[in-house]
Amino acid sequence: MNINGQAHRTIWLADDGWTVEIIDQTRLPHRFEIEPLTTLDAAAHAIRAMLVRGAPLIGATAAYGMALAMREDSSDAGLDKAYALLNATRPTAINLRWALDDMRARLRDQPQDQRADIAYARAAQMCDEDVAINSAIGDHGLEVIRAVHAAAPGDGPVNILTHCNAGWLATVDWGTALAPIYKAHDLGIPVHVWADETRPRNQGAALTAWELGQHGVSHAVIADNAGGHLMQHGMVDLCITGTDRTAASGDVANKIGTYLKALAARDNEIPFYVALPSPTIDWTLSDGVRDIPIEERDQQEVTHISGKTDAGDIVSVQLTPDGSPAGNYAFDVTPARLVTGLITERGVCPASRDGLAGLFPERV
Ligand code: MRU
Repeated sequence: MNINGQAHRTIWLADDGWTVEIIDQTRLPHRFEIEPLTTLDAAAHAIRAMLVRGAPLIGATAAYGMALAMREDSSDAGLDKAYALLNATRPTAINLRWALDDMRARLRDQPQDQRADIAYARAAQMCDEDVAINSAIGDHGLEVIRAVHAAAPGDGPVNILTHCNAGWLATVDWGTALAPIYKAHDLGIPVHVWADETRPRNQGAALTAWELGQHGVSHAVIADNAGGHLMQHGMVDLCITGTDRTAASGDVANKIGTYLKALAARDNEIPFYVALPSPTIDWTLSDGVRDIPIEERDQQEVTHISGKTDAGDIVSVQLTPDGSPAGNYAFDVTPARLVTGLITERGVCPASRDGLAGLFPERV
């Protein structure tokens, strides 16, 4: 997608052919800075500290992390060490383990002196696949938006509520939940996005608002608690979110607060769709609420907030009283019964084992 009119992905190789470059998302929206990654440790840090984030981009970065690791130590021990280090960075997004499993399985039987080249080629291929998958999600989700638009009286926009950032910044390109919105906007279907601010890290306020603004999509940031009110007053036609892990049952883990939006949507009979690439499906889990591991992060993400002062400095300030502890649960699970449909690269299906099996028969 575009930044100041210029096309970008979120991860790419530098001109030297091996340094991995990323957009440092902890600096957005106020600074656009590119961070070079030259070591396994740097890749692990980028994922852990959320310079990159969003399930598909975490997977892509892990894949390149394996490639960087193979430059450092391409032995079996080096492979296992890289797998373990990267796999421990963030627990909820299954794309991380998916990418690492794929990479390790491909490298294990290869000669050590070829492993780095093979890893780089596979990481690049994964990135291209992610872009194609997300574009297809956009095409299928576009039909959902088109149907809502056709059914709505009047010429107003389709008002879409989203949570966190499931846009192109969360993937290699296009995004998942935002891909249909970009496609609708580009085709002239009027859309307006309500972007939940998404405390504690404010991915909605900082990232979703920024990338929608860069693409010229009408949007407004709302406090996390505002969605229910907007839904009660007819100001939301459709909800679309992403997911970090989808159980085979159709339960979806996504950024903390997604579940409450799904409850409010159900109470107000508003369709609630979840967009996902198939590497986000954990076919081994049948009960997402019980079995999906929920990441707990540093209390400081809740007790403090960062932003830009009028003088243009980026500062962090404390919100809470000295000594008050905080809980920081990063994700929650929305049960399949609250999800109207899953938007995948192969089409839209019910959020259920049968629905997913219908689109991915080879996986069941
Ligand atoms: O903690 P984050 O910012 O990595 O969480 C991201 C989300 O919750 C996204 O909605 C999810 O990864 C889907 S992204 C296509």
